[in-house]
Amino acid sequence: MNEEQRKEQTQARVGTSSADKKSDQTKDYSQYFQTTFTPPDLKQAKKRGKENVAVHYDFDIPEDMQGIGNGKKFLIRTYGCQMNEHDSENMAGILLQMGFESTAFSEEADVILLNTCAIRENAENKVFGEIGHLKPLKLEKPGLIVGVCGCMSQEESVVNRILQKHQHVDMIFGTHNIHRLPELLKNAIFNKEMVIEVWSKEGDIIENMPRARKGQIQGWVNIMYGCDKFCTYCIVPYTRGKERSRLPEDIIEEVRHLARNGYKEITLLGQNVNAYGKDLVDSDYGLGDLMDEIRKIDIPRVRFTTSHPRDFDDHLIEVLAKGGNLVEHIHLPVQSGNSEVLKLMARKYTREQYIELAQKIKKAMPHASFTTDIIVGFPNETEEQFEDTLSLMKEMEYDSAYTYIYSAREGTPAAKMEDNVPMDVKKDRLQRLNAIVNDLSAKKNQAYEGKVVEVLVEGESKKNPDVLMGRTRTNKLVNFKAPTSTIGTLLQVRVTEAKTWSLNGEVVETVGVNS
Ligand code: SAH
Ligand code: SF4
Ligand code: F3S
Repeated sequence: MNEEQRKEQTQARVGTSSADKKSDQTKDYSQYFQTTFTPPDLKQAKKRGKENVAVHYDFDIPEDMQGIGNGKKFLIRTYGCQMNEHDSENMAGILLQMGFESTAFSEEADVILLNTCAIRENAENKVFGEIGHLKPLKLEKPGLIVGVCGCMSQEESVVNRILQKHQHVDMIFGTHNIHRLPELLKNAIFNKEMVIEVWSKEGDIIENMPRARKGQIQGWVNIMYGCDKFCTYCIVPYTRGKERSRLPEDIIEEVRHLARNGYKEITLLGQNVNAYGKDLVDSDYGLGDLMDEIRKIDIPRVRFTTSHPRDFDDHLIEVLAKGGNLVEHIHLPVQSGNSEVLKLMARKYTREQYIELAQKIKKAMPHASFTTDIIVGFPNETEEQFEDTLSLMKEMEYDSAYTYIYSAREGTPAAKMEDNVPMDVKKDRLQRLNAIVNDLSAKKNQAYEGKVVEVLVEGESKKNPDVLMGRTRTNKLVNFKAPTSTIGTLLQVRVTEAKTWSLNGEVVETVGVNS
């Protein structure tokens, strides 16, 4: 995209806005509220309109809310994916600008936010457990503000359950309402009623929210928001709005800023990173073009997650094959190895198409590691269909896989399907699958023994503080002994021992310490 086209793009987006469209609620919750009250509506959240996305560059903390947090502390607990990690960094940035300090201890906190995940039932149960745990603290310290945000807050059933059973929660706000945190917090502090603001909409892009990044070695860079794929099992398109890409210049500026500030690795983030650019008006600028530009920025490592097989185009493969700071790791969720199940999941590719794509990528990037996501026990999955997943695992020889038992999410099409697979069968399938995943991982790791790999030193090992840990370009975890002064640098490490999930090694030489 040239400068002229970019400007037009910006104007097209800023011109027409779906920003102020809130859901048209009809339910009567008035018994609960006098203050901010906009509850979620999954049906509304499902709608996809033709309006351009509005990009806002005018975020500000209103004057009367500056300093509200002076002398007070906040704690944010983050569940779920990197998108939530990213949002928590924004919320922390906002709270710091309001004068709050951060704390790791709930007893010290004046504001506790639970940034939640709705992807599976067990993720939600964890959060409800934590909400319950906070009740005695709230009773002890009535001034404490307990807030629930993130993907669960976009669900009507969750908000209803909190209203009925967890009245000690002070505020609930949605994934599209993060920039409203100052106002919502003020309402929660000065009013007794529960504050609820969840916009069920397609979404905008807010560019200049403050950001308190965790760590100074690796940084998240969101390149797009939302998801339009509507896989039949998945709640994300409802909780995160429509696919909307940030403008290339805003992303590149953020990456340059991180490079200038000494970051060593960035991860480009999106529910569907390779759908990047599809929504940019009058432009065929895509992820391949973006990565080709980022490749030229002086930052040692660039990752991206998550990609969808359907949008993985040849240009992207061509650019990735150029290497340099674009690392050799591809996370390509397949979900199932059976084409009928894939069809019911609405993944829009067959087993054969997936394999063909993977082979094309492997040919272009022969040293790349491959990882995937798998769901077992999709409604009515037969033993034969499951065995197709096992055979695909072996055929693809994945380095690793995130494996899940299907969890019905209210409001999704799959939740309406009758399911004849008993839970013990699903659990058994998960175990059989995991046994193969472990074997493959161990085998792949063994191939590293004796090799010298470049490792970005991330910090002390969680299990043993005498040992440091870092990752290879292929995302393998390596443990080794080195001085803590090497944290944040790139080291050459010889792999001495391969384990199932990690590698042990010894430092060969230091490359670019303190660079
Ligand atoms: N956007 C990414 C995935 C986001 S969710 C993608 O499409 O690849 C991460 C993973 O959670 C998914 O890949 C899927 O394997 C799993 N998942 C999503 N919904 C689920 C559900 N209802 N039950 C079980 N696993 C689910
Ligand atoms: Fe969910 Fe599918 Fe979108 Fe991934 S692509 S977030 S699995 S709907
Ligand atoms: Fe969970 Fe929402 Fe991420 S449902 S996986 S936190 S997008």
